[in-house]
Amino acid sequence: MFAQPGETFYEQVGGHDTFVRLVHAFYEGVATDPTLRALYPEEDLGAAEIRLRMFLEQYFGGPGTYSQERGHPRLRMRHVDYAVTPDQRDRWMKHMLAAMDSLELPESHAAAMRDYFIRAADMLVNADDDGSRL
Ligand code: HEM
Repeated sequence: MFAQPGETFYEQVGGHDTFVRLVHAFYEGVATDPTLRALYPEEDLGAAEIRLRMFLEQYFGGPGTYSQERGHPRLRMRHVDYAVTPDQRDRWMKHMLAAMDSLELPESHAAAMRDYFIRAADMLVNADDDGSRL
């Protein structure tokens, strides 16, 4: 893929299709992980998939649909109902990195996304592995 001047990161990595594939592959991983899956009460992960996809599209420079529909992201606040432990963070990252691998992005783009996910997932940890809140 050749980046055009003025293209957003979102466009450079392939736009909407890329984020659909990324988040879909991610939730396929989550569905096989009982520890993470237990956090999502809904039978169907489709709604969570749409929210994460819209958020990431907005974050990486695509359409602002997430905030139009959900308001300011405030990710840490939106995770207070879940005890996010270091173990859960590591599982979340494992599935996201596997999903990213399936995209086969150029390494410089993959590195930028990975760095963001590592920082974001770390920032969301709000409990010890025994579940006590930090
Ligand atoms: C570190 C481990 C993480 C765990 C265990 C976790 C878990 C959850 C759970 C259980 C939900 C509720 C499901 C839903 O209704 O959408 C949720 C929502 C969400 N999470 Fe995470 N999450 C983690 C990390 C992240 C990271 C790193 C991001 C972003 C890069 C993220 C972005 C979101 C978004 C955008 C929502 C939907 C918020 C909304 O609009 O209601 N999460 N997460």
